Amino acid sequence: MRRLSIRHLHITLVAGTIAAIMTMQTAAVAAQQPAAEAMVIERSKILTQPGVFGVFTMFKLRPEWNKIPATERMDSAAEVAKLIEKHKDNVLVDLYLTRGLETNSDFFFRLNAYDLAKAQTFMREFRATTIGKNADVSDTLVGVTKPLNYITKNNSPDLNAGLSSATYTGDAPRYVIVIPIKKSAEWWNLSFEQRLKEMETHTLPTLAYLVNVKRKLYHATGLDDIDFITYFETNDLIAFNNLLISLASIPENKYHVRWGNPTTLGTILNPENVIKALSE
Ligand code: HEM
Repeated sequence: MRRLSIRHLHITLVAGTIAAIMTMQTAAVAAQQPAAEAMVIERSKILTQPGVFGVFTMFKLRPEWNKIPATERMDSAAEVAKLIEKHKDNVLVDLYLTRGLETNSDFFFRLNAYDLAKAQTFMREFRATTIGKNADVSDTLVGVTKPLNYITKNNSPDLNAGLSSATYTGDAPRYVIVIPIKKSAEWWNLSFEQRLKEMETHTLPTLAYLVNVKRKLYHATGLDDIDFITYFETNDLIAFNNLLISLASIPENKYHVRWGNPTTLGTILNPENVIKALSE
């Protein structure tokens, strides 16, 4: 029998401990994310859960789109609706109209999926539809939802209560706004306590806007060149403008190396109506 040296034993023990830690970490990550398989998509659930991937794809129609006969362009609405139906167990698809409000896009998708690859499959198949073949991507943003980092019950009980007690009471939102954000290395090198303090300063003036602005945050560090994708729905663009002004004048803003650029503003319609509006 081979004799084990102390050194060999030591290496084996260290390797074993590392493997155990990695298994535990993998299990912890898996516990945060809903299982990708066997999960039927429910809109109200997927839009509130952590561990959900968000893909935003902005499209600009090519001039050739207008040369396609009007009936064929209209048929494209049904073609896209069919594709959305085909993928409904894998991807929640929202489509927004930006033509007339933006220079670089005419429409954009927001896809929410437990499995990012499923969102990619949807988008590949969309590119093969009549409208998809006649449009160019002007921007893509990828992120993932996470539990609260800062304004939790433990860290900040009053603000956390403020977050959960305020509800949207405005008319059904007609507008959508997407703002990509990147923060500086200086921000990421602040201590957790300092960042918490800044995020409390962020939350305090914004709570009042929850009655007329719906918000959603995707984390994008490492998945994209930005750190966050912020998504908003509102029917009150003046309130939204005031909200942004209130966030422009707090210290957190000094750490933004990108805030928008582009900010994408569009209208909320059902997918078929977006394509129909682009077919007229
Ligand atoms: C209704 C208005 C808003 C409310 C109530 C609100 C509230 C909050 C809260 C509570 C957090 C901390 C989340 C956590 O604990 O992890 C947060 C994070 C964040 N918010 Fe807002 N927010 C609002 C509007 C905005 C706007 C207009 C922007 C910018 C366009 C914005 C950008 C962000 C970003 C980028 C983060 C993540 C910051 C980080 O983790 O470093 N928020 N927001």
